[in-house]
Amino acid sequence: MTAMACQVQERNDAFVQGQLWLDDEHNMINAHGGGLMYHDGIYYWYGECKQGETVLRENSTWECYRTDVVGISCYSSKDLLHWHNEGIVLAAERADSMHDLHPSMVVERPKVIYNARTGKFVMWMHIDSPDYSKACAGVAVSDSPTGQFTYMGSFRPNGEMSRDQTLFVDDDGRAYQVCSSEDNATMYVHLLSDDYLRPTETLTRNLVDKYREAPAVFKHGGKYYLLTSGCSGWDPNMADIAVADSMLGKWTQLGNPCVGEDADKTFYGQSTYVQPVVGKPGVYVAMFDRWNKTDLPDSRYLWLPLTFEDGKPKIIWNDGWMF
Ligand code: GAL
Repeated sequence: MTAMACQVQERNDAFVQGQLWLDDEHNMINAHGGGLMYHDGIYYWYGECKQGETVLRENSTWECYRTDVVGISCYSSKDLLHWHNEGIVLAAERADSMHDLHPSMVVERPKVIYNARTGKFVMWMHIDSPDYSKACAGVAVSDSPTGQFTYMGSFRPNGEMSRDQTLFVDDDGRAYQVCSSEDNATMYVHLLSDDYLRPTETLTRNLVDKYREAPAVFKHGGKYYLLTSGCSGWDPNMADIAVADSMLGKWTQLGNPCVGEDADKTFYGQSTYVQPVVGKPGVYVAMFDRWNKTDLPDSRYLWLPLTFEDGKPKIIWNDGWMF
């Protein structure tokens, strides 16, 4: 057995941290900066498909490692452990060098939500120029969770910068985009239009000047929680979780929810999504990327249990676990 093969996640009965995770065709799962959507008994995992060479961009003021855009991948599963590759559901546009989805651009952190009114699946993602100065959100739509998604274009929500981002649909059907804005200094929450395709004019500025990224939102016991990372590019930093009584309400930071060795570095991971386990109230899977900045396609995943102790959210390190 080669060294690489030893690292493959062979235990298919548990979430094993940081190892190569294979789909049902024995290929590496390639869905980074991703998010999940549960629909009709199936979980869908959308993420950045990272392939090819990782290049350090010259003349950048920060360590801007990147790979060419390939597209957004989608995997499906009934149990969150065993995944089937549904393919690229939004592909790079190779022919047009000015297109948002051209391989030279930045397409990151896709999230998909289902709109029960329109019957459409709506994807939002971070769209940027190669130097990350564009700071826009892109939107794509599909009639099916497995695509193909049709790209609608990009914009700055309410004219404000949008980089790392996520989506959240509340029980009342209202949806929100949460994004790092003001050059990543401040987290914005935009209430979306009824069709989820645009922001409304309702927005809030949160965690002002706190420089938080990688937002992930979930709801527990009638309260809203916002898990974020700090702002240090691909390098790990300390997570924080904030709580609010409503999505547009005041967010109060609760501190680092991580517990265990390297908790101050988020276990060498960066948040991307928190998934409630359907049918198990109070059980959440907190998803992190463990970036390999000099070889981004070899980045790994940490899927950890998020639980509540004395009413406070905790993410406790666990090598291999199942809910
Ligand atoms: C991180 C961000 C990633 C990616 C990276 C680029 O801070 O969370 O999604 O944009 O920077 O360096």
